[in-house]
Amino acid sequence: MPNLQTVRRMLEAHGQGHLLGHYESLTPPEQAALVSQIATIDFDQLDEWIAQYVLKAPAAAIPPDIAPPKIEPRKPADEAARARHAKAIARGRELLAQGKVAAFVVAGGQGTRLGYEGPKGCFEVTPGKHKPLFQVFAEQILAASRSAGRPVPWYIMTSPANDVPTRAFFRRNGYFGLKEADVVFLTQGTLPAIGLDGKVLLAGPGELALSPDGHGGSLRALRASGALADMARRGVELISYFQVDNPLVRCLDPLFLGLHDLAGAEMSAKALPKRDPMEKLGNFCLVSGKVTVIEYSDLPEALARATGPDGRLRFSAGSIAIHVLGRSFVERLTADGRCQLPLHRAEKKVPFVDASGTLVKPETPNAVKLEMFVFDAMPLAKACVILETDRSEEFSPVKNADGADSPATCLHDQVRRAARWLAKAGVAVPRDADKKVAAAIEISPLFADCPDQLAKAVDPKLTITAGQNLYLGE
Ligand code: UTP
Repeated sequence: MPNLQTVRRMLEAHGQGHLLGHYESLTPPEQAALVSQIATIDFDQLDEWIAQYVLKAPAAAIPPDIAPPKIEPRKPADEAARARHAKAIARGRELLAQGKVAAFVVAGGQGTRLGYEGPKGCFEVTPGKHKPLFQVFAEQILAASRSAGRPVPWYIMTSPANDVPTRAFFRRNGYFGLKEADVVFLTQGTLPAIGLDGKVLLAGPGELALSPDGHGGSLRALRASGALADMARRGVELISYFQVDNPLVRCLDPLFLGLHDLAGAEMSAKALPKRDPMEKLGNFCLVSGKVTVIEYSDLPEALARATGPDGRLRFSAGSIAIHVLGRSFVERLTADGRCQLPLHRAEKKVPFVDASGTLVKPETPNAVKLEMFVFDAMPLAKACVILETDRSEEFSPVKNADGADSPATCLHDQVRRAARWLAKAGVAVPRDADKKVAAAIEISPLFADCPDQLAKAVDPKLTITAGQNLYLGE
């Protein structure tokens, strides 16, 4: 353990001496824990961040040479595109069958907007069986493993705060039918919350206020945890990245994987056509020839509303945080062990212990939290594919407790998608007077994970009555 005097002098030199303000009142194990927490922080680096991101909010600089990127349409428009997609799907399946793909979910977020106690992946989302988000993904991965004829490993990123309950949840649920050895947990790093005056906050007398370093922290967590090395051992080349909050995501999409691979891309993304110019999604842009995501809050309104000669929005593609990353790309970015992507600042209300030892619960934002975003790795990739997708098929996140992007909207979107797939397979779906689906329909990914599979698996003579709770599972 570092010498206390040395630590105290170092902290004082950085204007953070208050972190040892309650040291004398702590028990020896608490003292040791605090000192080792402090030792994990690079205070020289932190000084730079405080000057750059905390004491002032960096102005968004919009580069002059910004242009729309090339977008691969979901539905091929001509014969050449149809052939390209067919080849990509075949390639994606081949990669899965060769064991070259891993699934990767980032599940370290705090889920404050949803306000659910516990890891968000444990939140029950499906309409009939109330399956938790983790189970929805597990069943997709199991289904893909069966089609591939071999297990697809699944890497799950947690945070220090939710790692233990997440692992316990999987253990309790028998890994939802997956082999324990093929479910690999890794924990992301943290960054300190910093008061608006530049002082690091204490969450308790002997504890720094730390929060997860953002989904962009996943890249260095993959390296630091040994997950990249584990992938290399298993022969994994492609990482299929998704967020924990969207049960409509296709965790392992052969088309997306194949397009990425055939284009020799290092990092790819799925995109949605924005609903309206000001929709709160990051914008895919080309900056100095590099694919870059510009946050909705940073894109000037004139650019967000600009249209091309065809009358369509110039910047129409919104980011939904679904990616394929090459393992070797992540290895390259993390070669120095750091992978310092740019930081994004957010002002938040962070409870803290003041100089008198009192716990203060602020009513207004009192601190800056710093986070890295994974899409900031895109400009570092040699090539990227941006594949447009269909919102109703692939995107309905659970972010808020109510209103937009809530459990209620997500439930409806799941039912609507299931009804659409059934109608496509020739099954009559009951509707109410407002044309809304009049049954709670749930399709397990183990029954079918795409419309074509459903058409093969379901009896078109199936009758569904209004008000029925229909579950199509194994
Ligand atoms: P969000 O941006 O929705 O953040 O995360 P959040 O923390 O889950 O929710 P709020 O903002 O507190 O309400 C998008 C995805 O990125 C993951 C989340 O778990 C989610 O899958 N994430 C976010 C991490 O894994 N780590 C982080 O530090 C932040």
